[in-house]
Amino acid sequence: MGALPDGGAPTRDEGTGMANQELLRLEHISKRFGAVQALTDVEFTVDAGEVVALVGDNGAGKSTLIKVVSGIFGPDRGTVTFDGEVRALSSPSEATALGIATVYQDLALCDNLDVVANLYLGRERRGVGPFLDETDMEREAATLLKRLSVAIPSVRIPIASLSGGQRQSVAVAKATMGRPKLVILDEPTAALGVPQTRQVLALIRRLRDEGLGVIVISHNLVDVFAVADRLTVLRLGRTVAELRAGETDAEQVVAAMTGADQTEVGEAFSLSGGGESR
Ligand SMILES: Nc1ncnc2c1ncn2[C@@H]1O[C@H](COP(=O)(O)OP(=O)(O)OP(=O)(O)O)[C@@H](O)[C@H]1O
Ligand SMILES: [Mg+2]
Repeated sequence: MGALPDGGAPTRDEGTGMANQELLRLEHISKRFGAVQALTDVEFTVDAGEVVALVGDNGAGKSTLIKVVSGIFGPDRGTVTFDGEVRALSSPSEATALGIATVYQDLALCDNLDVVANLYLGRERRGVGPFLDETDMEREAATLLKRLSVAIPSVRIPIASLSGGQRQSVAVAKATMGRPKLVILDEPTAALGVPQTRQVLALIRRLRDEGLGVIVISHNLVDVFAVADRLTVLRLGRTVAELRAGETDAEQVVAAMTGADQTEVGEAFSLSGGGESR
């Protein structure tokens, strides 16, 4: 898998007409770690051209679910269907090869290398003899960032001198280099200020508009409502709500997260207080 062609998008065969075509379906997913039942009978779907937010309290099972999709953990039970076929997803490289790209919170960029070197790390272009084709990589890096409207001073400055939002944007752009169909973002705005958050949310929308499926894990419901088409709420390892962003509000989401919607209001506090693991 080489670099993107000139002006190259991770273009989908059918472009943005893919919207509403199911990309990922998890059914009856369960996962136990020793005494902890992290996931129980979880259902989860993502369409092409859709942003789905995965929300829930600490320990609800969000990261575990994402790790099942990115091939880090095999589930004890249940099936993962991706792009129309049931998949084993027995390793991260298998998930990557299928077109599932995950951007973890710690980003995995090299601070001392410049933007071009980071984008092409592990997929360097050969030039003449032992040399890398720096000119091509630089041009294509600039084209990619321009297409995604990622504004940075230069593609030749080290990651260390970029702002948090610019770094996050480069990490997301890097994830699109392998032409994924699904991009998973774990807390992409957690460390960012307001303008930087805006920049990253705009980038997420652009990926969606290019026909990719996007899963966003976030504790920030303002960001979730700014970007998500749909929300899946996990509580204590179970899917407790499946909501369209346009048909719900933060209050309803918080109620689902804490279990307040399933109990009498008077009981809600004692039940959620006693039931949470942390
Ligand atoms: N590798 C592991 N070994 C043992 N227990 C684990 C492991 N990974 C997760 N767990 C447990 O599974 C449950 C779900 O954890 P998970 O990390 O998926 O939650 P989360 O929703 O991502 O929470 P947070 O919002 O705090 O990141 C927790 O009780 C956690 O302690
Ligand atoms: Mg987590």
